Amino acid sequence: MAKLHLITYGCQMNEYDSERVAGLLGRQQYELTDREDEADLILINTCAIREKAEEKVFSRLGELKGLKQKNPGLLIGVMGCMAQLQQSAILKRAPIVDLVFGSPAIARVGELVERARRERRPVLETGEGALVKLTGILPRPDRLKAFVTVMEGCDKYCTFCVVPLTRGRERSHAPESILEEIRGLARQGYREVTLLGQNVNAYGKDLTPATDLAALIESVNEVEGIERIRFTTSNPVNLTSRLIQALRDVPKACEYLHLPLQSGSDRILERMNRGYTRARYLELIAELQETVPGLALSTDLIAGFPGETEADFEATGEMVERVGYDSVFAFRYSPRPRTAAAAFPDQVPEAHKGRRLTRLLEVAGAIQARKNAALEGREMEVLVDGVSKKNPRELAGRTRCNRVVNFDGGGRRLYGELVRVRITQAMPHSLRGTLVGRAQ
Ligand code: SAH
Ligand code: F3S
Repeated sequence: MAKLHLITYGCQMNEYDSERVAGLLGRQQYELTDREDEADLILINTCAIREKAEEKVFSRLGELKGLKQKNPGLLIGVMGCMAQLQQSAILKRAPIVDLVFGSPAIARVGELVERARRERRPVLETGEGALVKLTGILPRPDRLKAFVTVMEGCDKYCTFCVVPLTRGRERSHAPESILEEIRGLARQGYREVTLLGQNVNAYGKDLTPATDLAALIESVNEVEGIERIRFTTSNPVNLTSRLIQALRDVPKACEYLHLPLQSGSDRILERMNRGYTRARYLELIAELQETVPGLALSTDLIAGFPGETEADFEATGEMVERVGYDSVFAFRYSPRPRTAAAAFPDQVPEAHKGRRLTRLLEVAGAIQARKNAALEGREMEVLVDGVSKKNPRELAGRTRCNRVVNFDGGGRRLYGELVRVRITQAMPHSLRGTLVGRAQ
């Protein structure tokens, strides 16, 4: 049997896509291998969100050169967002690549690989494609938590972001096909699903009849065996009261929301084309906090967007304090090809970006520590998903609010179980606790 080695960079949607690719190529007699030196086909699933992500791929391709020299029959493919964004530029910079294809072409991966093998010249496939729901996934060893893509693309055109260029327009999968996939996962023993979309809370607007994410979550709640539902990423512009109420009312919907803010300055938000102001964002936060008790919030921030002054930056820090996020993902602004902001004349020097990023992470870290500390003494529901990283004799899992909890399981086999754990100690990035008992 031919062997496939898959390398995946980037977001959860890429992980999901890689699983589909492995499933599809499995039907063509490719079996997965962890070892690149025994592969007949190496596929790199790429991310283009920041320049650093792309540089990683080029340096990885550089490392693969030797393998290709030893084994001229080896096929090397680059797929995903960077393929869609850079297209033939990848072949120019990395001539060892035999195949480049974007996410719309994933459903045809088998045919593309065959073409690359037959034609002995590079194959490039970065056109638009029909939306296909691929449900043939490989059985994975953990069989506990799964990602499920519910919509593709994004129409928002934030001025810094390549996603509308790499993933195309917003298109939702039909609820029935999503539910069928989730029922299949439940039958295999999966207990948690994360519904994925670049702009997931715009789900369903493009369908006939139109529907929404709240309705989808209500239907997923009915799937027996699934215990927890998460979704990501939500855009403040599309956050409805209906969805907020679903977070409160749908029993399996976890009390956790990732709501990217990007900047706390109205002037910068406008230049980013985000479609909301800080006042509107704060209104949403107030409604969320009033409606959903115990809701955990996380966000994305960008440091050093073009034209960001010290005052703009201070406004972001102030929002972080005011909202009190449970966790924060912050990035230095990276100019991306074909995005509007890359051409803005007032780019911020790298040194300032770096300093601001560090500062944001400090502020966010202090708040996170405070939030974690407030959980000491509480009893929380934990889905056990493995062993503690630091002490393999201890079990680990996540709370509904997505925090890692390590605890002594007393030698019991609890993998995949929902248990109750009393939090005894808060660490900066995780919690420690003692087992109280099974949750059900
Ligand atoms: N809605 C998407 C957002 C995609 S990008 C999602 O599913 O997560 C994830 C985050 O990367 C964004 O929220 C933003 O904070 C950051 N990001 C996007 N483009 C960037 C750029 N050019 N430079 C720095 N950070 C960027
Ligand atoms: Fe990117 Fe903005 Fe869409 S961050 S994914 S263009 S909502």
